[in-house]
Amino acid sequence: MNQSIKHIGVFTSGGDSPGMNAALYAIAKTAEVNAIKVSGIRKGYEGLIDNDLVLLKSIELQKLTQKGGTILKTARSKRFMELDGRKKALQTLKANNIDALIAIGGDGTFKGLLTFSEICDIPFMGIPGTIDNDLSGTDYTLGFDSAVNTAISNLDKIRDTAESHNRVFIVEVMGRDSGYIAIHSGLTVGADAILIPESSKDFIYLLDKIKNYDSEDAFLIVVSEGDEIGADLVASNIKKINPHVDLRITRLGHVQRGGNPSAFDRMLGIRLGVASVNALLKGKNNMMTGVLYNQVHLTPFQEVVKQHQVNDELISLLELFGI
Ligand code: F6P
Repeated sequence: MNQSIKHIGVFTSGGDSPGMNAALYAIAKTAEVNAIKVSGIRKGYEGLIDNDLVLLKSIELQKLTQKGGTILKTARSKRFMELDGRKKALQTLKANNIDALIAIGGDGTFKGLLTFSEICDIPFMGIPGTIDNDLSGTDYTLGFDSAVNTAISNLDKIRDTAESHNRVFIVEVMGRDSGYIAIHSGLTVGADAILIPESSKDFIYLLDKIKNYDSEDAFLIVVSEGDEIGADLVASNIKKINPHVDLRITRLGHVQRGGNPSAFDRMLGIRLGVASVNALLKGKNNMMTGVLYNQVHLTPFQEVVKQHQVNDELISLLELFGI
């Protein structure tokens, strides 16, 4: 046990994701049990630069696990990319006697910590917080399950109107460069086509299918925002092949980031929050906690930032279901 840790700083960074507040609760609780003080750093790296800290107490966080977003607020900090910004962040840590740091965020957050470790020698721990599910070292990132559930409830609604009008709907879902949200939401709502960045054949399947579309039913296409073709070009190609189709494009956008976290994400936040404090106490550094095969697992940041892509087993489902 590393008994020298007396004060942990924690922040959320990058895109918010449902489950972040549950992780903060678990961090505060585990730290209290070990007589460690926890300061929340507001607005991610921005708060680290600006010395914007707030004391975190588990009793105050206990009832916030159901809240979406992050109570600490978040940001994508440009200033931290500059050495000057990182030096100011170091001063904040020193001025507050913070001797360990936990960051909840995505690959940009962990790349930031790796760079920061060049000038800062306190231990860093990470928790995967992004709806994109695009990090290696964990089967699931915080917020992914909630985002998929939000996407499917919206896709179900779109199906109602699409069926009423016999329309083709192209629905764009988030995921940055990853097709996880698209494949999970598209398959589970019975979409007719799913386009993801990890597959080059998906567009060919779609074009084949749309040739025979007789406008007697709805036709639902889920497109990941990172797909190489993209919603607009898909629409114009469909129109070229079949000019009479009645077609609409819907972008679900940031609605997928908000809302109450699912039970899965709350539990994941709690498990990873506890695991991150325990890992610091065991002397671990520059690692992300994740869950692999339902076991808590630690992965070095260098490995984490390599993209976690939709695997072949999932891609093969597109072929099997003909979508
Ligand atoms: O990384 C999470 C995410 O929601 C991506 O899916 C999306 O591409 C991006 O963030 C949007 O970022 P912003 O909120 O800065 O527009």
